[in-house]
Amino acid sequence: MGDRVELMICLGSSCFARGNKATLKSIQKFLEDHDLKDKVNFHGGHCFGNCAEGPNIKINGRLYTHVNEFKVIDILTNELL
Ligand code: FES
Repeated sequence: MGDRVELMICLGSSCFARGNKATLKSIQKFLEDHDLKDKVNFHGGHCFGNCAEGPNIKINGRLYTHVNEFKVIDILTNELL
């Protein structure tokens, strides 16, 4: 068994207002649907200091920019399944 995947969503006001509110729900649903809650440490973070390229998420320290609630499904599929 490997380490848990670190999945962080930016909950700073810029990212949150521009889509991470919906992306948060999309991620929660994905983790539930694929029974990944034990494998992934999912949490929110403060502003990543990269608002201009947001909305942002990070997976094991890798930054994903311009994320939305639909695109995040492809990202999670590639990273987690
Ligand atoms: S609010 Fe997300 S990077 Fe600043």
